[in-house]
Amino acid sequence: MTATVPPLTVPGDKSIAHRALILAALARGESRLRNVPAGLDVRSTQRALRALGVALRADGDALVVTGSGGALAAPGEPIDCGNSGTTIRLLAGVLATRPLTVTLDGDASLRARPMRRIAQPLARFGAELALTPYGTAPFTVRGNGAARGADVEIAVPSAQVKSAVLFAALGAHGPTRLTGKLATRDHTERLFRAFGMTCATDGGALVVDGPQTPRAIDFDVPGDVSSAAFLLAAAAAVPGARVVLDNVGLNLTRTAFLDVLRRFGAEVDVDVRGFGPEPHGRVTVRGAALRAIVIEPPEVPGLIDELPLTGVLGAFAQGTTVVTGAAELRVKESDRIETFARAARAIGVEVETFADGFAVHGPARFRDGVVVTAGDHRIAMAFAVAARVAGIGVRLDDPDCMAVSFPGFTGALERVA
Ligand code: S3P
Repeated sequence: MTATVPPLTVPGDKSIAHRALILAALARGESRLRNVPAGLDVRSTQRALRALGVALRADGDALVVTGSGGALAAPGEPIDCGNSGTTIRLLAGVLATRPLTVTLDGDASLRARPMRRIAQPLARFGAELALTPYGTAPFTVRGNGAARGADVEIAVPSAQVKSAVLFAALGAHGPTRLTGKLATRDHTERLFRAFGMTCATDGGALVVDGPQTPRAIDFDVPGDVSSAAFLLAAAAAVPGARVVLDNVGLNLTRTAFLDVLRRFGAEVDVDVRGFGPEPHGRVTVRGAALRAIVIEPPEVPGLIDELPLTGVLGAFAQGTTVVTGAAELRVKESDRIETFARAARAIGVEVETFADGFAVHGPARFRDGVVVTAGDHRIAMAFAVAARVAGIGVRLDDPDCMAVSFPGFTGALERVA
């Protein structure tokens, strides 16, 4: 790797785009969304919204969504949510308080993911999710169009679960009060406000007084900091390398990885250039000789998507990098503890696994190898970074899965390298 490359950008933020699309679909009026990422997950949300009768069309660089005002139509067949946990869980929330019966399904990975975590809180609105005996998709949502607001305790530190309940609250009558594990990414709360609705905080609780209908807006989706993370990591692990990324989302509930890079020893500059509903700006990373770090359990929700990549950086660092408190990794697009460990060992990295995390002994003596991605986009990108930085030959069994969140990733990594 060599010194400096001019500023690059990354695709729009996947989490933010799902929510903006859903809110635009529920709004009164026409919303214009820009920088909506082309990744397959966000396409799954667009496809699902079309299936529910919402009109979406491209107009120049914008995606124009003609809001339904909340009047969705049930399709005659199941909606395929592809690989996207955010699509299926957030839509289940929307449907829970609408007078509709809709079946949601997904690919083999999505069909293996836990759905009781949304079925239980959504039952508080009188909605029924008929899950498989394993508590998974496909499932049929029987929404309750006459739902009352509810008191809901969020038991899992998951923004998808919190957001499913917040979306359900929009269709319910009276206040919904969320308590419990709420310290996860707050895009839904911010976008509710951006779309002209209220989402209040009351002590430690979140309160949404329904019913509420979003007001159409024009909105630019900032770049995805979780996609940026791979390019930043590629520079961080190379002493003397430097990368500059523009228009990166800088919501503090998503940027913990920038601090992780600092703790590994890289130099990270953040220049916030826009606030608005979602802050964004320029991030510059300079590489260094890395030293191992320890990720503590309370840090995990803010880093959840970056933990496999953190493990990869651990393989370049001096010492043992440890992640604990991350059992949630086992129910992501793959079991990210096992998939990470198997992939790392395949290229010569020493890894221990625990029920809730892993330890990586660095610096590794890397060797060429074949990485089984389990169709998991973040595993594929993390090991593409490992290959590039270590200068080894890594064959990914399924490089195409990167398109779930970052089509064109390989080219972007080449530009950094
Ligand atoms: C997401 C939340 C996280 C994250 C996922 C996207 C979201 O999942 O892993 O990639 O958009 O809300 P959990 O909420 O289940 O932790």
